[in-house]
Amino acid sequence: MGTKGIEIVGMDVNVLLELLNKAFSDEWLAYYQYWLGSKVVRGPMKESVIAELIQHAADELRHADMLTIRIIQLGGTPVTEPMKWYDFTNCGYDAPDDPFVRTILEQNIKGEQCAIGVYKKLLETTLNKDPVTYTMVLQILQDEVAHEEDLQALLEDFEVIVTK
Ligand SMILES: [Fe+2]
Ligand SMILES: [Fe+2]
Repeated sequence: MGTKGIEIVGMDVNVLLELLNKAFSDEWLAYYQYWLGSKVVRGPMKESVIAELIQHAADELRHADMLTIRIIQLGGTPVTEPMKWYDFTNCGYDAPDDPFVRTILEQNIKGEQCAIGVYKKLLETTLNKDPVTYTMVLQILQDEVAHEEDLQALLEDFEVIVTK
């Protein structure tokens, strides 16, 4: 815990820690949704979709890592029980029970759109109050925006193939 580092935060640190733990829980659930999706996905363009899902899973895990580091810097404790991820999550978890390419892509697009909303709000919350968290959130938001576009581009290609 860095005392001066915490002192310069111009907002209630406990409120911020709660928001960061909520995002942290989202990231683990997103990681697992992508990771499992990459194993079970079936249908046309499977190989390209698998490659994208694996890449996104790695990014979500990296986001969880970034959030953990920040939570600890702020004197907080990252959620220690996976069971609690469900209590904290903003965006929830969509089980890949239907492994068809279109369903998997649609589920993950929905997740990315939720994440974009969460991080946009977190940016507004930390603007001019906590530049360190703000900068981290901005990096994550850039990834989530790219993720949404990656998946929507794949879905467009998929629709072209199946409607031909
Ligand atoms: Fe993420
Ligand atoms: Fe993402």
